[in-house]
Amino acid sequence: MKYNYQKIKREVSLIVEKASKQNNHFGIGVWDYHIQAVLRHSQTLGKKFKADMEVLELAAILHDYSGIKDYKLYPKHHIHSGEMAEELLKKYKYPQEKIEHIKECIFSHRGSVKMKRQSIEAKILASADAMSHITETADMFHLTYNIHGYGIAEGAEWLKGKLQRSWSKTMPTGKEMVRADYKIAIKILNRALENKK
Ligand SMILES: [Fe+2]
Ligand SMILES: [Fe+2]
Repeated sequence: MKYNYQKIKREVSLIVEKASKQNNHFGIGVWDYHIQAVLRHSQTLGKKFKADMEVLELAAILHDYSGIKDYKLYPKHHIHSGEMAEELLKKYKYPQEKIEHIKECIFSHRGSVKMKRQSIEAKILASADAMSHITETADMFHLTYNIHGYGIAEGAEWLKGKLQRSWSKTMPTGKEMVRADYKIAIKILNRALENKK
């Protein structure tokens, strides 16, 4: 039986959006500012590289799902989110080979977890995740100062390190897309650090 991709995408989005809008560690902005941004960057890169857009979109929507649903799962959220994606997508009779591919993307999406990214879709998801930190500056300030509770200079130091790691995790084509934003963010953070001296 042929599956209905648009229906699956819509319903899976609703599930993740609903979890995001409930009380969660990242705050209710995680859907609007993180997941949507990762999806947008994935779509732009996916078109450029002629990637499997279904795999890429579903992986982007689901990549952090477990950590949003339950923060206790965050340390291994790449594994749990992959498993939850499989569980969800099986219910829609989504093809197993595509589910495996989505899992590969989600398992390897974190910069801090050394795992080889084999497919272009996995490489794109990891880049899009990193790019979202660079383009969604307001959300990153929220994370730094409200969620982590850093002071101004301390937070600027932390966020600068995070953005530098995100930048190095981004593939060359992605870097071109976010270079201007990256420069602005680093400039603002450097100013905060200089003012401290
Ligand atoms: Fe993640
Ligand atoms: Fe993420």
